[in-house]
Amino acid sequence: MTTHTQVDAAVDIAGVTKRYGSLVAVDDVSVRVAPGEVYGVLGPNGAGKTTLLRMLFGLIRPDSGTIRVFGRTWHEAGVHTLDGVAGFIESPKFYPYLTGRQNLEGLGLLDGSTDGRDLSARIEEVLDVVDLTGRDRDKVGGYSYGMRQRLGVAASLLRSPRLLVLDEPANGLDPAGIRDMRAVVKRLAASGLTVLLSSHHMDEVEEICDNVTIMNRGSVAFHGTIDDLRAMAPDPGHLLRTGDDHEALAIGRVGHPRVLVEPGPDGGLVATGPEHELSAYVADLVRAGVPLRAFTPTRTPLEALFFMLTDDEREAVR
Ligand SMILES: Nc1ncnc2c1ncn2[C@@H]1O[C@H](COP(=O)(O)OP(=O)(O)O)[C@@H](O)[C@H]1O
Ligand SMILES: [Mg+2]
Repeated sequence: MTTHTQVDAAVDIAGVTKRYGSLVAVDDVSVRVAPGEVYGVLGPNGAGKTTLLRMLFGLIRPDSGTIRVFGRTWHEAGVHTLDGVAGFIESPKFYPYLTGRQNLEGLGLLDGSTDGRDLSARIEEVLDVVDLTGRDRDKVGGYSYGMRQRLGVAASLLRSPRLLVLDEPANGLDPAGIRDMRAVVKRLAASGLTVLLSSHHMDEVEEICDNVTIMNRGSVAFHGTIDDLRAMAPDPGHLLRTGDDHEALAIGRVGHPRVLVEPGPDGGLVATGPEHELSAYVADLVRAGVPLRAFTPTRTPLEALFFMLTDDEREAVR
């Protein structure tokens, strides 16, 4: 039986578990993606993101729990579960000795959803969405990694999906590649397409997602909106470079009990506390004549929260 609410969700992953021997790669995870939203599954390497998405694509089976895609389960609908779904796991694969356009033509013909003329118009459209117009007659072998990732998105869009699933689309890209990929995802989101993506960068998820599930070692560490997440974020640490760390430590200890000042891991000091207390502390340093050379956040509050939730000890102290 299918209830109304189940049909409403683009993706409804309920209590899914996947084990590899004694390792629980995905541990009782539930994720609900509403139509039209951009949903992020965030977690460090090994958190279970790819395993979760592989189960959604039917590449592996969950040990327990159910996955519904637009209300359909693999058990009931088989390969039709993926009607209207496109995307890629890890990296998309193309023929390097063919051009980007030839790869798309081949895929479009195999898919058989459009005739030759429609296909060529559709190829123009998707090339435009991923900013590859003008490079489509170059061989894929000469593409940058970022261009290949974007061609992967173009190939997915050829099928005019209702749901796009992307596994770490920005992974391995340089800063320009990351920026371009984010622009593509934002454009797709604005067009009303439902997007489910995984990432290990908080700032990426913060920038483009409405809702997020943070996974850590297979389990859900957080689940909610980006705003909920912001409300939980701790005070960010600031890296402080002074001409007199000894004096700066003393001023913190004596006059600013709500600011924690401690030696930083790579030299300098790290000051942590509520924003206005930090400002008062810095003002006192200046007043006391301590030379101030740098005052920079060690990370954004959300990044700090991410490292707390995923208990990455090494990163958390930085
Ligand atoms: N086929 C497999 N056999 C054994 N262990 C696996 C397999 N696939 C993934 N794992 C393990 O499951 C955990 C989650 O992996 P993965 O889903 O790839 O994480 P992520 O994508 O978040 O980096 C890791 O510890 C990984 O080593
Ligand atoms: Mg992965």
